[in-house]
Amino acid sequence: MTPDQIASVESTFRQIGPITQATGVEFYNRLFEIDPTTRSLFDVDMGLQAVKLMQVLAFVVSNLHAPETLLPMIRDLGRRHVAYGVTEAHYDSVVAALLFTLAHALGSAWTPDVAAAWASAFATIASEMKSAARSAAAG
Ligand code: HEM
Repeated sequence: MTPDQIASVESTFRQIGPITQATGVEFYNRLFEIDPTTRSLFDVDMGLQAVKLMQVLAFVVSNLHAPETLLPMIRDLGRRHVAYGVTEAHYDSVVAALLFTLAHALGSAWTPDVAAAWASAFATIASEMKSAARSAAAG
């Protein structure tokens, strides 16, 4: 990610600040719609899950400039997701649902540059989580 892309992700994430839980809930609704195979993985209160997801996203966003802090945390998260029954294909659905939800929450602030910046952030997160999960599975 370029410094401009990091700044763009930080400033647009701040804009959805007041509606973070609603955004998290909308994300899961969208995810279950585009990929119904993900629904049965969640046996939890989805309101609470939405809060957890948005808290982790807030941490990720505020540490995009600090990979030495961000990467170990993302890799741990990826390893934990093996136990949740998550497969590599699920990541494509999650990233698509996240981008869709952010586009909706941000409205006219969702420009092509902003979209590219978020896509780049999620591509890095998903790829780090998947590769940590793969190494964990390989023992
Ligand atoms: C952008 C990548 C992702 C992020 C940031 C993320 C974030 C989180 C967080 C913060 C938790 C709470 C538990 C923990 O910290 O270990 C969690 C749990 C979970 N996530 Fe993810 N996740 C991601 C990708 C995925 C994918 C691709 C799936 C597949 C559908 C998924 C399914 C789950 C499930 C099933 C749980 C456990 C719910 C339970 O407690 O039973 N996540 N995720």
